[in-house]
Order: sequence, then structure tokens, then C-alpha cells
Amino acid sequence: MNHLNTVYDCSIIELKHILNEIGYVSSVEGASNISFDIKRVYYISEIPLDVTRGGHGHKCLKQLLVATTGSFDIILDDGLNKQVCTLNQPYQGLLIVPGIWREIVNFSADATCLVLASLDYDETEYIRDYDEFLKFKKKDY
Ligand code: TYD
Repeated sequence: MNHLNTVYDCSIIELKHILNEIGYVSSVEGASNISFDIKRVYYISEIPLDVTRGGHGHKCLKQLLVATTGSFDIILDDGLNKQVCTLNQPYQGLLIVPGIWREIVNFSADATCLVLASLDYDETEYIRDYDEFLKFKKKDY
């Protein structure tokens, strides 16, 4: 049923965080913060200005994106609706459910995007063509 997911199933999640004189400690606690078991962690950094990342959807993958430093915007698209989310705090995560096309833009020079993912890397699980994505959304794949 992942093809039925909409941008409204994606949400910004407030992570546990503590700020004191030694700086921030932010933590993702699976059971209380996210609805999936973390199988893979990766991060993107040193992103040249004006680059667009993403530009794909996933058939099954759930992800939590965190701007551990800097900021960027995520354009979510379910084929019908679009929503733009900004991440700019290390204690906020964006949960992206399967079946959502995403583009990540407006990276600040210091941005690092940490991604917690529900599955191992699998290229066959990506949908990299927008027309294929629209077919997937109509379950005409
Ligand atoms: P991709 O997920 O398309 O990047 P983004 O969505 O951040 O723009 O991945 C870029 C390249 O890195 C692609 O060739 C696949 C490879 N890759 C891995 O080998 N393992 C991984 O865990 C990820 C996320 C990507």
C-alpha cells in the first residue's frame, strides 16, 4: 500500500535534545521517535552550492533526515500534492515514508544531512524516473 502514501504522511519529528554549557546532545530513540528499525545510517556533506540532491522516490524505504549542521529544504511530492520542509535544527528530523518523490535543495555551505534508513542500500528499490514514479503511484507499475 506504499503507493497510497501522501506528503501528509511525512512529518517533522522533535528529537530528544539537551542544551547546556557543553553544547547540544540530540538523540534519536527508535521506539519513541521513529516507527521503523534503523538498518542503515549515511550522511551527505560538502554539497556544492545550487546542487539538487534526491530526485527519486522509494518503493519501501522509510527515512529520517536530520540537518546535523546547516540547513536545506526538502520538496516532497506524492504525485498530487507538494510540500516544502526546511531542516535547520539538529534536534528535528523529517520522517519520509515510502512512495514520496523528494528533492533536496538550498543547502547551506556548512550543511550535513544525516539519514537513518529502514533498509540496506538497494538500487532496485529506487524509482529514479518521475514518469515511473507516477505509474507507481497509480499502481500501474
Ligand atoms: P542517492 O541516494 O541517489 O543520493 P541523494 O539522494 O543523496 O542525492 O545516492 C548517490 C549515489 O550513492 C548513488 O550512486 C548510490 C550511492 N549510494 C550507495 O552506494 N549507498 C548508499 O547507502 C546510498 C544512500 C547511496
